Amino acid sequence: MRGDRNGILRLVRAMPAPCKRQWHKALPAPPVTGRVTPPASRLRGRRLAPLGSMATHTPHVLVTGAAGFIGSHLTERLLADGFAVTGLDNFDPFYAASEKWANLAVVRRHPRFVLHEVDCSDADALEARVARVPIDAIVHLAARAGVRPSLEDPTGYIRANVLGTQAVLDLARKRDITRIVFGSSSSVYGDSSDVPFREAMDVGAPISPYAATKRAGELLCATHAHLYGASIAALRFFTVYGPRQRPDLAIRRFATRMLDGSEIELFGDGTTSRDYTWIDDIIDGIVAALAWTQRTPGACETFNLGGRRTTTLARLVTLLESALGVRARIVGRPRQPGDVSRTWADTTKAEQHFGYAPRVRIEEGIPRFAAWMRQRVQHRATAEFQAAGLALGTR
Ligand SMILES: NC(=O)c1ccc[n+]([C@@H]2O[C@H](COP(=O)([O-])OP(=O)(O)OC[C@H]3O[C@@H](n4cnc5c(N)ncnc54)[C@H](O)[C@@H]3O)[C@@H](O)[C@H]2O)c1
Repeated sequence: MRGDRNGILRLVRAMPAPCKRQWHKALPAPPVTGRVTPPASRLRGRRLAPLGSMATHTPHVLVTGAAGFIGSHLTERLLADGFAVTGLDNFDPFYAASEKWANLAVVRRHPRFVLHEVDCSDADALEARVARVPIDAIVHLAARAGVRPSLEDPTGYIRANVLGTQAVLDLARKRDITRIVFGSSSSVYGDSSDVPFREAMDVGAPISPYAATKRAGELLCATHAHLYGASIAALRFFTVYGPRQRPDLAIRRFATRMLDGSEIELFGDGTTSRDYTWIDDIIDGIVAALAWTQRTPGACETFNLGGRRTTTLARLVTLLESALGVRARIVGRPRQPGDVSRTWADTTKAEQHFGYAPRVRIEEGIPRFAAWMRQRVQHRATAEFQAAGLALGTR
């Protein structure tokens, strides 16, 4: 059965492009054995069957950006669900490498996890590093993230996010890997006032280099799927937060400064708003999208993954104040170029295709995040105290 399907796939690849989509729609779904099997979607209330009972080899996922915020959480989930994971990361200096190694603390010694330090935009190095890895699917999250820094270094963002994405797609083509999830962003909607954002809306006017690179990545994915019949889910994440959140993002930045008594800079008049998405909801969405790529050979779609509600900056600060038990000392600043007025996800499409259903509301998520922040501060204080004690003892 597997051989037949691969034979048909080879034939389809040799066809002129317009015929391919038709054929891919007609292809039988890949067999469960020897492919990435969809972990039972918690979104639909099913549980994962033990892998050993249904697979002859451990399904293997390549996660790029594995040491980052979202990548490290995804790696943990995939390993817990029975997958083997090869992680790639170049430990980009956007924030401290020590934070990224700490992100991997839980998984580093896991027998089904390997990490390679490699730059995804270096196609040769990328191919060489994973030459012997039996990859079934790719989740491409490696990118230079962040809107404001992209205004300082657009070329660097294009190298990492556009060339990096193309190099990953080239790898997929050469290795015949047909299931890909791409981490895109709500920033592709630009400063649209038409809310909530739907995937069918015009996304031809991004307002930062970062947003433009993410839209470029989506287009490269669509082209790749069209030419080579891959199944690709491009997921537009809406501001993700939770433990290990990137230090540059507002929630983490504010909380850090509020806890050490510093002022926080508030850009704009506090009325700008964001759709904040709890990390576990995003991970559920990625895992469900990965399963969707198995059910829909040859399809390429964009999906919003958001919290489905929008929160103003002023309200966010109030929530942080009550969760941290600290009054914020606010300094007003003008709105920054590249910043959008609002984000708000309509997630109907992801819900219909793979049962996406965000669960954690901001009123629940912020106290959970605050608990993680406090624990982190405590750990650091203990570590510093111990280091000081050791230093005194060695005098
Ligand atoms: N966090 C959010 O709110 C959010 C929102 C929208 C989209 N996204 C997207 O989700 C993905 C993950 O974001 P995150 O918040 O975890 O960011 P992150 O910075 O924590 O993780 C990205 C990881 O990619 C690595 N990386 C960067 N360039 C690389 C390259 N050329 N080769 C290999 N590794 C490279 C970095 O070292 C980092 O560890 C990114 O693509 C980002 O654009 C995130």
